Amino acid sequence: MIYLVRKEHFNAAHRLFREEWSNEKNEEIFGKCSNPNWHGHNYDLIVTVKGDPSPETGFVINLRTLSEIIKEHVLNKVDHKNMNLDVEFMKGYIPTTENIAIAIWDQLEPLVKELGIRLHCVRLEETEKNVVEYFGK
Ligand code: NI
Repeated sequence: MIYLVRKEHFNAAHRLFREEWSNEKNEEIFGKCSNPNWHGHNYDLIVTVKGDPSPETGFVINLRTLSEIIKEHVLNKVDHKNMNLDVEFMKGYIPTTENIAIAIWDQLEPLVKELGIRLHCVRLEETEKNVVEYFGK
């Protein structure tokens, strides 16, 4: 078993808030990320898959294939988008780093499985200091 890591990048806007809370309470809980007029982050997305190298190619998976899957099913849907308004798979979720990472996992996991390998980790870096890692349920 070997782990293969692909790093990608996207920019997106968001606002962390609960509608039923006042702006003051939202700011108290979510800080700057509750700014009512939105703001953006430069996200680094690191996807790790695992499997055994093919005797034929030496690859766990062709990185081009993995990159295309991430692009089609994640990056094209989130890059330069508003995570609260534009992204179908985030509907109903507060777009915290945690929730975005889980949603990305849910997008990728079945597709990676179809290729005969397994998704190991979705790591999402919202800033250099704020990072989440999701390994599935
Ligand atoms: Ni934010």
